[in-house]
Amino acid sequence: MGRFALGLIIGFILAPLAFVGWFHWGHPPVAVADAPLPLERRLTHVALDARIAREAPAAAPMAADESNLVAGAEIYREQCAACHGFHSQPSSFGAHMFPAAPPLWEKHAHGDVVGVSDDPVGETYWKVANGIRLTGMPSFKDVLSDNQMWQVSLLLSVADKPLPPAALALLRSQLPTPPSAPPVNAGPRKQPSR
Ligand code: HEC
Repeated sequence: MGRFALGLIIGFILAPLAFVGWFHWGHPPVAVADAPLPLERRLTHVALDARIAREAPAAAPMAADESNLVAGAEIYREQCAACHGFHSQPSSFGAHMFPAAPPLWEKHAHGDVVGVSDDPVGETYWKVANGIRLTGMPSFKDVLSDNQMWQVSLLLSVADKPLPPAALALLRSQLPTPPSAPPVNAGPRKQPSR
């Protein structure tokens, strides 16, 4: 009986207290550069893959023709490039997120896959529409129309193929800085001297 009570105390009181204590006084990973928790990546990916397998549409409702790819490139440039990079120009901060935003116009180290060109288009559409929780990947279903989400997903699915020149030109052009924007790295504003 004594042992049983001891087990209860350890299991129901001490273990949760130790867990809470670790959050307060230990060093749980909260900075981007901290090491991931054990199995963190594997566990989140298993859950994400299972959900996508159940819900992702099997085929796109439109063709990857020139007008859809050019429209997709316009959307990509406005909504995605800051994190995932422009064509031949990596994002300045995408690699410094946790998890990092993968560059979607770079060839994988092995093979000819570019970005997510090896993923079914329905999987990319699912990720664009729903986002990926606890990562910087936003959900775009209230930002873009269904057509637009398909157009940008189709574009990414053919990232390893030659693109229409108009689409490529858009993907290579950084967004212009609005004339009223203050210069980047201007530092804190000085108080006017009296
Ligand atoms: C604020 C930054 C940010 C923006 C903006 C953003 N993403 Fe992402 N995206 C991420 C991050 C971070 C991940 C990695 C998530 C992970 O590791 O699970 C990601 C993952 C993805 C993936 C999965 C990549 C893979 O290897 O499986 C796709 C596809 C994707 N994003 C497409 C897009 C598209 C299309 C847009 C624009 C409509 C977009 N993203 C906008 C941050 C962003």
